[in-house]
Amino acid sequence: MKKLEEYVRSIPDFPEKGIIFRDVTSVLQDADGLHLAIDTMQEKIKDLDYDVVVGPESRGFIFGTPIAYNNHKPFVLIRKKGKLPRETVSTTYDLEYGSATIEMHKDSIKPGQKVLIVDDLIATGGTTEAMIKLIESLGGEVAGIVVLIELAGLKGRERLSGYRLESAICYEGK
Ligand code: PRP
Ligand code: MG
Repeated sequence: MKKLEEYVRSIPDFPEKGIIFRDVTSVLQDADGLHLAIDTMQEKIKDLDYDVVVGPESRGFIFGTPIAYNNHKPFVLIRKKGKLPRETVSTTYDLEYGSATIEMHKDSIKPGQKVLIVDDLIATGGTTEAMIKLIESLGGEVAGIVVLIELAGLKGRERLSGYRLESAICYEGK
């Protein structure tokens, strides 16, 4: 049986020279890879007590929904600006080039609910930090964060210190 790491394709010099792109599509397009990814992520947080799973557009949806489904929890979407029809809270955060705005429905989290954040990857931690801000602004309590891949060289873990962060695969570099 292949290890989870072996399903991740690493593409040198994408999207620019010197960057190694860690591709999750190669994990997803293999039935065993997909099972192993979700099972490993769930295993990492099996002791965690949470009420709701939150995931960001777009790759967070892929990994968040099966974890919510398997554990019989609701799934809440965080979307890029302008996509949600009802009243929202929003926040803008910096990307390497430019910025992004993400939103969630005001009624999607109730005060006191314990939230598990799921995404495919932690790089700088900026996206997750922005998600935490939205969740906490609604009175939610972040119980933990689980991702498939952590790029430790970008120090997202330090940025998110104080929160429990679990990754199925951790790469030392960027
Ligand atoms: C990528 C990735 C994470 C985020 C990690 O999403 O899916 O959500 O970046 O980077 P950070 O830790 O530095 O914030 P992206 O914004 O590229 O959008 P996508 O999921 O729609 O592909
Ligand atoms: Mg993303």
